[in-house]
Amino acid sequence: MWDPDMYVKAIVNLPECLDALTDRLDAIPWREGEVVLDYGCGTGRATVPFLLPKTVATNSRLFGVDKSSAMITTANEGNKSDHASYAVGNILEDGGFPHEGVIFDKIFSFYCLHWCKEYKKILAKFYSILKPGGYICLLYVIECPHFLLLQQIGKLPKWAGYMKEIRDHFPDWIEHSQDARTELEKSCKEIGYEKLESLVHKSNVKLTLDAFTDLVMSLNPYLSEIPSALYPELKADYAKLILDKGDVVQDGCQELQFKHDMLFAIFRKPGNENNGFVRN
Ligand SMILES: C[S@@+](CC[C@H](N)C(=O)[O-])C[C@H]1O[C@@H](n2cnc3c(N)ncnc32)[C@H](O)[C@@H]1O
Repeated sequence: MWDPDMYVKAIVNLPECLDALTDRLDAIPWREGEVVLDYGCGTGRATVPFLLPKTVATNSRLFGVDKSSAMITTANEGNKSDHASYAVGNILEDGGFPHEGVIFDKIFSFYCLHWCKEYKKILAKFYSILKPGGYICLLYVIECPHFLLLQQIGKLPKWAGYMKEIRDHFPDWIEHSQDARTELEKSCKEIGYEKLESLVHKSNVKLTLDAFTDLVMSLNPYLSEIPSALYPELKADYAKLILDKGDVVQDGCQELQFKHDMLFAIFRKPGNENNGFVRN
């Protein structure tokens, strides 16, 4: 499981792609009294600035769900609101979704699906709990060196024992280097969604080696399984791998540069067609 403190500290070094996409988030209409899900909400880091203001303004109700109890504890402690609540859950597990029977107007999932091997199953589950005319809005990483670094660290004998199920975290498009956008559009079409938009948001990130190793360590889903006394050794191993990587460029001023591309997409469940989405 991720460590919420390390995650929050390290993630500030990545560009917040949602900042660049607020006009696309604003394109989704909100009505009074909606029921909204933030799936894979983590600490609520993205829920609070991007979703809570609209939730409050429309007197709606926002449910954050995440499979990590540590993340949910942090979300509940840090984001008190009459309009939002956070609960542990995994929609992939039988009886694992805490809001059984609730039908949602909108489902958001930010920075989560690239960690879910069974992301197509999650999309199908979303469909089953979405109102006709309801929206799903997804944002997830499709290109970043941390995927490969995680696979490489997981193969080193001294860390492999802590990270046995690592492949369960990678969707097929990562494992097989497929085009993530095509894969998403195809999967959503098969399930029955109507595509409203999908776009790739590209960025180049520059970080010091220290900040980059902290970042990739914080993104290791098995971090809390590894004794913290071993973190300096783990960090040193990450640093070695990072410096060996071809797609991380050292630019002469002690900073590393790497690609961080995101897929942003909005789909709708057919029904109630004239509900005001503003096309790009
Ligand atoms: C990188 S964090 C992003 C958290 C938050 N959305 C944000 O933007 O900061 C990914 C989160 O997805 C959660 N997650 C991964 N797979 C999940 C699943 N199958 N069900 C629920 N949550 C999941 C993890 O526990 C983690 O908190």
